[in-house]
Amino acid sequence: MAEDVVRIFDTTLRDGEQSAGIGMTGEEKLAIAQQLARLRVDVIEAGFAASSPGDFEAVKTIAREVKGPIIASLARAHPDDVDKAWEALQGAESPRIHVFLSSSDIQILHQLRKNREEVMEMAVEMVARAKKYCDDVEFSPMDATRTTPEYLYHLLEAVIGAGATTVNIADTVGYAIPSHFTNLLKDIQANVPNMHKAVLSVHCHNDLGFAVSNSVAAIQAGARQVEGCINGIGERAGNAALEEIIMALHTRRDILNVATNIDTTQIYPTSRMVSRITGMPIQPNKSVIGENAFRHASGIHQDGVLKERTTFEVMDPVTVGWPGNSLVLGKLSGRAGLRSRLEALGYHLSREDLDRVFEAFKLLADRKSEVTDRDLESLMAEEKRVAIEPATYLLDQVQFSGGDHDIATATVRVTGPGEQAYSDAATGNGPVDAVCRAIERATGVQARLADFNVRSVTEGKDSIGEVVVRVQQNGEMYVGRGASTDIIVASAKAYLSAVNRMIAQEGLGAATAPLTTPD
Ligand code: KIV
Ligand code: ZN
Repeated sequence: MAEDVVRIFDTTLRDGEQSAGIGMTGEEKLAIAQQLARLRVDVIEAGFAASSPGDFEAVKTIAREVKGPIIASLARAHPDDVDKAWEALQGAESPRIHVFLSSSDIQILHQLRKNREEVMEMAVEMVARAKKYCDDVEFSPMDATRTTPEYLYHLLEAVIGAGATTVNIADTVGYAIPSHFTNLLKDIQANVPNMHKAVLSVHCHNDLGFAVSNSVAAIQAGARQVEGCINGIGERAGNAALEEIIMALHTRRDILNVATNIDTTQIYPTSRMVSRITGMPIQPNKSVIGENAFRHASGIHQDGVLKERTTFEVMDPVTVGWPGNSLVLGKLSGRAGLRSRLEALGYHLSREDLDRVFEAFKLLADRKSEVTDRDLESLMAEEKRVAIEPATYLLDQVQFSGGDHDIATATVRVTGPGEQAYSDAATGNGPVDAVCRAIERATGVQARLADFNVRSVTEGKDSIGEVVVRVQQNGEMYVGRGASTDIIVASAKAYLSAVNRMIAQEGLGAATAPLTTPD
């Protein structure tokens, strides 16, 4: 019998963005959407168009720019939301409107303050409204797993009757367990007479840690679309981790007997990109994409893997795009090696950008025997910072001396407005203090260093140090960042970056009167 294909619906940009502490710019969302298209997901939920002007723009841009996957916008069961979703989706090759509405009594009574009949009516009306715009309409009964099953069957039948082409069983609060979810999915197929007219989908949250297991159980029970987020990010404890579901389907095809359209070698680059952009780190022991996922520590395991990889590995790291250690980057590496490693980390550079990054890489490789993936990510973050940050002053040179018998002294040279170079020197209570004072003299900006943090990107004495400073002036706080293998240079970059932000924010152009005369 031919295998069914399970559609992969990615909601990293919508539910994933609901993770506490995450905020992505439109440009970052577009970069993730482009990477999701490379991963070949079937559906990208680009956002919730009616929720904010920023989300509207993000959906609109992704709909216009990203080709291949279906582009969806979420919408509450309100006419304005459905209209906004459609407006944002105008440029999409394959648009989808995704309408959701609470279906459990708990939420109907306490949150919506309505009754079941009213909810049924709203759902049918809004699906019909969406259908007038767009053939592809998804409906999600929110909190479906705590909904009275008979009501859920009637609701699903009614929205499919109104034109929904996908119905999505949302375990909104992560309440289901696999056996319960399997039964629910089977019961839905047995009790919704027109179920064959729509795709059955699932959307699982991870409150009890079952999101992936529930999703896989649902696929075994007949679901043919599965929703989730890269790295399992999302509201509260997150959504089902898509990379885990995909690799479960891929690795246990013998039992699950379904396929996906995914290019699994794009999993690692996608995961790194999402982690970097959202600032959500990946735990080292995370399945599929954690740093330790393919590392063998025990001697017995190492011995086995060296003799035959499959003795202790159920997945080949190459299948998920794991860059491995086969290519060591160092000062003898060329552009091709650098490009390939950057692509494995989710960076796709133009020829021109690659040339610029290659210069920075060479400087770094002169100072480090081996340039690791984390070093490259730090280098790329530094390149990006320099490219997008306001920069009234650029750091040309830093020199310092000190020690336990010497007064710390620093000299800096910066280029300011009109390409004018300024040099100045200062002493301080240690090299960081001296460098900051020298920058203040050279730029004429006085500020208070409120916080200073340094961390090393990798282990090893030659590691890159990343410095984050918080600088205060007139009750406002400005953050600056800098990275270098030399932490005093990193500190100087970070302090100058905060000063530049302050100048841009406070319109301090005129107030910056360097204490020194131009070089
Ligand atoms: O968790 C949930 O119920 C949702 C819906 C909007 C699908 O995210
Ligand atoms: Zn959700």
